[in-house]
This record gives sequence, C-alpha cells and structure tokens, in this order.
Amino acid sequence: MNEVAAPPTTSPAGTGQATGSGSGLPILRFLTCGSVDDGKSTLIGRLLYDCQLIHEDTLESLSAESLNFGTTGGDLDLALLVDGLQAEREQGITIDVAYRYFSTPRRKFIVADTPGHEQYTRNMATGASRCDVAIILVDARKGVVTQTRRHSCIAHLLGIDHVIVAINKMDLVGFDPSRFAGIEKDFREFAGELGLTRITAIPLSALTGDNISSRSANTPWYDGPTLLEKLETIDVAGAAASLPLRMPVQWVCRPDLDFRGYAGTLASGTVRPGDKVVALPSARSSTVSRIVTADGDLDEATAGDAVMLTLADEIDISRGDVICLTSDRAEVADQFAADIVWMSERPLLKGRPYILRCGQQSTVCQISELKHKVNVENLDHIAARQLELNDIGLCNLTVSKPIVFDNYQDNRETGGFILIDRVTNETVGAGMIRFSLRRAHNVHWQAVDIHKEARSTLKHQKACCLWFTGLSGSGKSTIANLLEKRLYAQGRHTYLLDGDNVRHGLNRDLGFTDADRVENIRRVTEVARLMVDAGLITIVSFISPFRAERRFARERFDAAEFLELFVDTPLEICESRDAKGLYAKARAGDIKNFTGISSPYEAPDAAEMILPGGAKAPEDLVDDIVAFLTASRIIDEV
Ligand code: ADX
Repeated sequence: MNEVAAPPTTSPAGTGQATGSGSGLPILRFLTCGSVDDGKSTLIGRLLYDCQLIHEDTLESLSAESLNFGTTGGDLDLALLVDGLQAEREQGITIDVAYRYFSTPRRKFIVADTPGHEQYTRNMATGASRCDVAIILVDARKGVVTQTRRHSCIAHLLGIDHVIVAINKMDLVGFDPSRFAGIEKDFREFAGELGLTRITAIPLSALTGDNISSRSANTPWYDGPTLLEKLETIDVAGAAASLPLRMPVQWVCRPDLDFRGYAGTLASGTVRPGDKVVALPSARSSTVSRIVTADGDLDEATAGDAVMLTLADEIDISRGDVICLTSDRAEVADQFAADIVWMSERPLLKGRPYILRCGQQSTVCQISELKHKVNVENLDHIAARQLELNDIGLCNLTVSKPIVFDNYQDNRETGGFILIDRVTNETVGAGMIRFSLRRAHNVHWQAVDIHKEARSTLKHQKACCLWFTGLSGSGKSTIANLLEKRLYAQGRHTYLLDGDNVRHGLNRDLGFTDADRVENIRRVTEVARLMVDAGLITIVSFISPFRAERRFARERFDAAEFLELFVDTPLEICESRDAKGLYAKARAGDIKNFTGISSPYEAPDAAEMILPGGAKAPEDLVDDIVAFLTASRIIDEV
C-alpha cells in the first residue's frame, strides 16, 4: 500500500492548491479528532480500505490481529491498521500524532491522526497546525460532548475554518434522521458562537462504511456528500500560493565573487524575475534577476518550491531574513500578542526566557504579560498567572531582536512559532501571533550623552554586577554586606540589593511561587542593570534559585560585567543555623515552597566563583573575592 506514517516535514510544503511532486494532484491536509471511543482510527482505516490502499497480506495479518487485540468481536478491526503502536493497541487508545498519505484520482490526502483524550491537546495542536480541514467525530449515541467543544475550539484557534462533523455510529441509532438533525443543530449553534462558519455534517458509520465513500442505502433522507466526496471537492481558499510572497532565507550561496544566491523554500506567494523585493528586517531592497534551481532557471516559483534567488544588487542578506515583495511586506516587531498552546509538564512562567523559533528565525523571548487563559470549551477568558500543560492563553511577548512575521490569521506559514526550553531543549509551546504591539513602534531607545563609561570613569572604577546566589541561610547577605563595607572603605561607589530588603518595597507584591520568583529576579535584574549603568559596583544577594533566570540576568549585562558568586553551603548547615527560624517553620509545613525543602534550588554550573560558606569564615571569603576581582581587573589595586 502507499500509506506511510511520516512527519509532515517530509512532505511537500504548502496547503490546498499545492501540488505533490510527480502526480500533479492537489493536496488536502486534514485532521481527525474525536473522543477515544468515537471510532477515529476505524474511520481512517475505512478511508484507506475503501481507497483500496490495503494489500492482501496486510488484510491477512489484520484478521489475525483482530482476534488478539480487536474490539470488533473477531471481525476485521480497521482501527488496528492505523493504531500502529503496540502500546496504543494494548491500551486501546491512540497516543501520538500519526501522519498518513493516500490519494484518489482527484486528490492527494495527508491525514494527521491525533489522540482524543483530554491531556493530548498539545498533540492536536501539533497535528492541526498545518491542516486545512478538521474532521470532528461525534458518537451519534452521545451527541456533542465536552471533547467535541474542546476540539472545535482548538481547531478554530489554530485557524482551521473548515469543519466536517462526522456523526458516526449511525448504525447504532438505527440511522435515525432526527438524531442526526438534533446533533447537527447543537453543533451549529455552538460553532456559530465560536465563529466557525464552514461546517458540513455527515451521517455515517465508519465500521459498516455507510456514507464514507459510497452513498448509504440506510440514509435515504440525507442528500449531502459522502465523506470522501466532501474531502475531494472541498475548496481550500487562502492557500499558501495565493498569499503574499514570503521566502525565509535558509542559506546564502556564494561559491565565487560573481555569484550570490539566496536559497530557501517559499512559505507563501509567488515570485518572478523582475519583481521588486525587500529583505526584512534590514529593509534593503532590490530586484529579482533569476530563479535558479538544479533543473535550470524558472519563470516563476510558488509556495512550497525550494529555489535560489539572485538579485540585481549586492545587498546584505543573511540566514533568517525574509524576502517579500516591496509592495506587500511582512511585519517586523519585537513585541507582539500571541495565543500560546502550552505543551510541557513544567508551567509557562511570565518573565522566564525561552527560545522562540519562527521559521528560520531564532531569538530569546519572554512572556511580558499573560492576559488570560482560554476555556477551551467555550473560548471564555479565565484569569491566570501561569499556563499548565495543555492550557491555551493569550500572552504579550518580547523578543530580544525584532522578528519578521505575519498575523497567524493572515498567514499560517509565517504567523506561527514554537517556544523551546533553554535548559532541556524540549519544545514547550506553540504560538500563533495575533498582532504586533503598537507600543513597540512608538517607544524608542533614547540616546543620552553621559553614558555608563563616563559615569564609571568619574568614580574611578569599572561598573559591574556581583550576583550572589545560594540557599537561605547560606551566608550570602553576610558576605555581601562585608564585601560592600570593604569596597566602601576603599573609596568605591557601591550598592547592595538584598532579597529580603527589596521584598519590602519594589517586590512587596511577590511571594515564593515559581512565577513570583521569576518576576522577583527579573525586576532586580533590571534594577541592577540601571545601577551598573549609573556606574556603580552593584552587589545582588538573592536566593535566585533557577538557572534560567540567572542566565537571563547575565545576558542583560555586557560580557565580563556580570559575575556569579555561588555561596555553596550545604543544606544541613543552613538549616542548623536557621537564624530566622524559617527552616523549622518550613519543616513543620507552616511555610510553603521553601527553597531546599519544598522548592528546588538549581546550583550554578558555571559560576565565576564558588564560595564554600560552610567551610570558610565570611571574612576569609571576602578576602578571596577581593583578590579575584583584582586579579580579573574588575577593581584596581589600592
Ligand atoms: S528568591 O528565591 O525569590 O530569590 P529572595 O532572595 O528574594 O528569594 O528572598 C529570600 C528570603 O525570603 C529568604 O532569605 C527568607 O528570609 C525569606 N523567605 C520567606 N519565605 C521563603 C520561602 N518560601 N523560600 C525561601 N525564602 C523565603
């Protein structure tokens, strides 16, 4: 059979009107979603079976397996054909997104089969992101249920505007037309509120094949299309080729001084020699000279084509830039609002830095504001401070360098992004850009004439940030205080930012949840930055338990301006000191989220200094620090 399971990246890019290599048939990507027992795998199995994509030998092994694992009492269990994974078979559920290809004489199809149970919203989001149509399965006996609403909302958020409501298991309700009509009415009412308009409801039975590829004699009252007819004829407007030109540059080819080509795959639109183009974000413009491919030059390239462009002028374009027509440019911004689907067990925290990848572009980003979470059963807004696994929320994001994008609603190819955890490298979220934030256009950096160096020079010192991290009771504040006294005595200009003190004022509103600690460190980082800018030797003494935020702090400073000093005192010693009686309270359960007891401390792996706070007296450690600062020329000898 020509049915294979493969990730979508191996397939030709582009949507509806794109054509597959070779056959020239248009491609339709669709997604199937439904509850565990709705019969989704059976439906796909039936489509493949009816399209005669199953070989005899597969059928033979299928009938043997149907006896072992099947849920059809020994009849051919078509679900087994698509539930490829052993674990799924044993549990009777589908646990990951699987992609399958099949074709009819009229169209090629790529099916994203996603699991139905609740905790797999992220898989649905993964599968749906490139689909044109969603088939939402509804069990005719149960009607519209929570899962139906959830899947419809997610499909809508992901920009899928065609929905086929497959009202399945009609055989089990005696092909009752009023049952079908009732469910269709319920669905349309709810979908109308969401704003979904292109809806087709089909009464069918995946198990018995009614209305899948041929019209069923059991539903004489139904005069709409069969499922396959609908899939073959659905009109996919807004196809990538008809959108404005966007070509992310994958690499710059410069074999000799006479040739410079920009290679990439057109995410959308069309390009021809003679077109006036602009490369963003640099906004340098030129005219397309040639469209080069391995098989010779083209007169035109369109969405999904991998080509190399040469331009009339030598302009500086690098990997990650996006080539657009001068007349229809993408947006460039460093702040925008986006819907984010959270896919990690560790929650999304406002203020934590993540890597944002949008096409070929990659940058560090932070959630500057979590506006609200979305109730995926009705799209209502819910107030939230963080996003948990499978949550969807509207956020404002700030990126460290401007990115080129379109609003997801206008162009799904260039309006989507993923978020990656900087420590584990796992993909933790998928986002859809709603709009750029206008304040990003209106607030500019104001250059001032008296700068950091000038202020430092007047003080006869080099400004820097000495960042102490360690457990509560490790001795950070004691050492930091002694150090400041020592530097002060030497006539240096300093300031000490201490966690306990800053929490009395600026950060009075913050507690000790992960989200609050992230914000605590973000704010103190910005304050320390201003102080360094003022020319001060700035000492920060905060537990700062998370690596991600310490790394963020480091990156906010110039190289060699930030030093991490890890006060490495064993927990037992900190606890035995217990100057404030907090450990005793934490052990008794009176303080929640206490670092080292009920909240983690992530020790630094590349601190500039490790200070053994349990083994050495604070005065001696300060001697060591001063010696280190002098040796590394951060402070002059006195
Ligand atoms: S941080 O984790 O957000 O960096 P920060 O340094 O500001 O912490 O504040 C730590 C101080 O708050 C501790 O020295 C301790 O006195 C006090 N404190 C109160 N509750 C907690 C808690 N749950 N965990 C840690 N410290 C706490």
